[in-house]
Amino acid sequence: ANEAAFKMARLYTGKHKIIARYTSYHGSTAGSVAATGDFRRWFIEPAGKIPGVVFGPEVNCYRCPLGRSYPECGVACADYLAYMIDHEENVAAVIVEPIVGTNGVLIPPAEYLPRIAEIARKRGVLLIADEVMSGWGRTGKWFAVDHWGVVPDILTTAKGVTNAAAPLGVVATSRAIADYFDDNMFAHGHTYEAHPLTLAPVIAAIDEYRRLDLLNRSTKMGAIVGEKLRALKEKHPSIGDVRGLGLFWAVELVKDRATKEPFNVPQDKAARRPLVVDAVVAEAAKRGVSLMGWVSHLLVAPPLIISEAEIDEGIAALDAALDVADQKLSA
Ligand SMILES: Cc1ncc(COP(=O)(O)O)c(C=O)c1O
Repeated sequence: ANEAAFKMARLYTGKHKIIARYTSYHGSTAGSVAATGDFRRWFIEPAGKIPGVVFGPEVNCYRCPLGRSYPECGVACADYLAYMIDHEENVAAVIVEPIVGTNGVLIPPAEYLPRIAEIARKRGVLLIADEVMSGWGRTGKWFAVDHWGVVPDILTTAKGVTNAAAPLGVVATSRAIADYFDDNMFAHGHTYEAHPLTLAPVIAAIDEYRRLDLLNRSTKMGAIVGEKLRALKEKHPSIGDVRGLGLFWAVELVKDRATKEPFNVPQDKAARRPLVVDAVVAEAAKRGVSLMGWVSHLLVAPPLIISEAEIDEGIAALDAALDVADQKLSA
């Protein structure tokens, strides 16, 4: 989907650069991994890198890439993207995960996305929202951008579009972009494009999201998860930060709350060194609970149908597993 989005943005604007952010993941194919800010890009460099991708700062109020604090910062990370566009020239699009997923469930402050949308619009640059992880009720809305009333020019999505029951990637565009490709060639296709076996589950999934009221359920259950994770933070000194929206949460582990020094860094994961988060995940797995560990944080993203009793079971397993991280704290 992101490959198609980049191609559309380049053809539609007649410009070629793509601005992405360092703390991001956009996929494993050539263009999408080249626009990926995290360490998975390192493995394709320099030969696999497509030209024209430039990286800017992400929004991360726990670890600000600009060393600032919100709100005194004035959301300088958004303004820096304007600075980049103005100095790069030839920028076709800015791609963001509206809520960064694997790399830490980073929830932007309220001004961030509307400001980026405005910065891009004023400069004739398209905004691509990668909602592969954050879409389909995960955060309590159909799409994460809905939290801030932002309508991107292009929205890419997958996973929850079929409840992940069938493998499908989707690119949605504004009417203007769609109309443009009525009259102009868009040379992009796959053998299994628009395959009925992948499209039929979309209808079924949307019907189920509605029938089971899963967006509201995500908000309601997410509040419970958030409350319980924050309680774990009180108890476990290895937790540096807890953040999330809907049923999309991250628990960031640190050696020392004051310095925010993480247990591991991306270089450790890239080199396949043992990670503290992996030890925590293994402990939780022994208790039948599946979590995702990533560098120095855990992702908590249960199914939208989760019950309160299941949340309790999951939190109890995490509570016990976190002792492993507490034992590794700096003295
Ligand atoms: C935010 C985001 N974008 C895109 C992708 C798609 O990546 P892939 O190349 O694995 O389909 C993923 C996969 O996890 C993702 O999390």
